[in-house]
Amino acid sequence: MKKVLLSVLVVAVLAACSARKTESAAPAKAPVETVALDPALLTGKTLYETHCGGCHPLKKADGRTKEAWTSVVPRMVVKVNKKAGKEVLGEAEKTQILNYLHAVAKKS
Ligand code: HEC
Repeated sequence: MKKVLLSVLVVAVLAACSARKTESAAPAKAPVETVALDPALLTGKTLYETHCGGCHPLKKADGRTKEAWTSVVPRMVVKVNKKAGKEVLGEAEKTQILNYLHAVAKKS
């Protein structure tokens, strides 16, 4: 149910964005996450978006430095697995999430 609501929200946001684009001739500044994202990082992005917004709003992927993500993600992966009552994110998934977040992280 939550996922359905989220999808509806995503669609609504996307619709709002595309509507705005047609109104204004000036190109909108692309969000950092969508700039030249290596396709190999898309799995990490999807995992992040799927599992990391369940308890708090999804944190901005470009709102933290690499170091900050490195320290917080393992802690949060434990929470994700605890909440699910099973291991939904293993070492491989944790690495994929980190690779994605490191790629878009705030510089310095
Ligand atoms: C089971 C609930 C839960 C899930 C799922 C969860 N979080 Fe959190 N998150 C919390 C809570 C509670 C806090 C605040 C307390 C804390 O920092 O431990 C928090 C805080 C954070 C913070 C701020 C912490 C800081 O020190 O700046 C970040 C960043 C974060 N979460 C990222 C994530 C990421 C990335 C994932 C997915 C891997 C995730 N969260 C999944 C519960 C969750």
